[in-house]
Amino acid sequence: MRRFDGRAALVTGGGHGIGRASAHRLASEGASVTVADLDLAAAQAVADELGKAGTAAVAVRCDVRDRSSVEAATARAVDEFDRLDVLVNTAGGGGRHPDFPDTDDSVWEALLDLNLVGVVRCIRAALPHLLAAPEGGSVVTISSVNGMATFGSEPYSAAKSGLQILTANLAAKYGPQGVRFNLVAPGTIRTRVWDDQADSLARLARLYPLGRVGEPDDVAAAVAFLASGDAAWITGTVLPVDGGILSAGPTRSRS
Ligand SMILES: NC(=O)c1ccc[n+]([C@@H]2O[C@H](COP(=O)([O-])OP(=O)(O)OC[C@H]3O[C@@H](n4cnc5c(N)ncnc54)[C@H](O)[C@@H]3O)[C@@H](O)[C@H]2O)c1
Repeated sequence: MRRFDGRAALVTGGGHGIGRASAHRLASEGASVTVADLDLAAAQAVADELGKAGTAAVAVRCDVRDRSSVEAATARAVDEFDRLDVLVNTAGGGGRHPDFPDTDDSVWEALLDLNLVGVVRCIRAALPHLLAAPEGGSVVTISSVNGMATFGSEPYSAAKSGLQILTANLAAKYGPQGVRFNLVAPGTIRTRVWDDQADSLARLARLYPLGRVGEPDDVAAAVAFLASGDAAWITGTVLPVDGGILSAGPTRSRS
């Protein structure tokens, strides 16, 4: 018996990087997977990979910045598999923006919308189905070490930090009804967002006590743990997957 046999998962941002690795990990442990992404071609490619490996998988276009798009994607996932047990929120990101004094309101609005309100939209749409999940529902959201300490990018960090109190509130509110909410807070993870930044990655790797940057699979393993019955008594928490950088501290990270 694998940890997700008979369960259905929806992974936002599942077309690339951490979301793709999470979709693969959940599928490898028995889950049926809906791969939801703004980039439908990438989502389809991942669903095809999963299908070839014997998983029931479907791709759906989803923009987490748009409530009706999220609702349609969630409805499609439930139509396809008749249940929803696990929601993994990975869609998000920082991108480049001006330094704090020059950040226009539009930068703040965009980053809060994508990284914080986008997660709210996905949880709100999935909640009725998670509440109906026979063995209890689980939400795992990808935050960042930026939401826990001062690594820069104030708007992105504020959005990721907001996920922490959102998650704690929802954990307290819906725990009695069997739905768990947790965060994974990655450090630097080698995904396409670091493409063409090999020098930065090499410099960052030296700052991590464990001597390397993370890989998407490092995060996916934590996602699968928190989503699974192995974490049945864990809710409202944040699990850093950070190679020890939070222990070393932001000061070290800037040195
Ligand atoms: N890579 C890192 O170093 C790192 C570190 C900490 C946290 N994170 C977080 O991990 C998550 C995934 O990042 P990644 O590095 O895998 O990035 P990625 O670019 O490889 O993957 C992100 C995926 O989200 C999708 N996406 C973007 N906007 C979307 C939207 N509006 N609606 C739906 N899908 C959308 C993209 O198409 C892509 O498939 C993000 O929330 C990011 O903030 C990444």
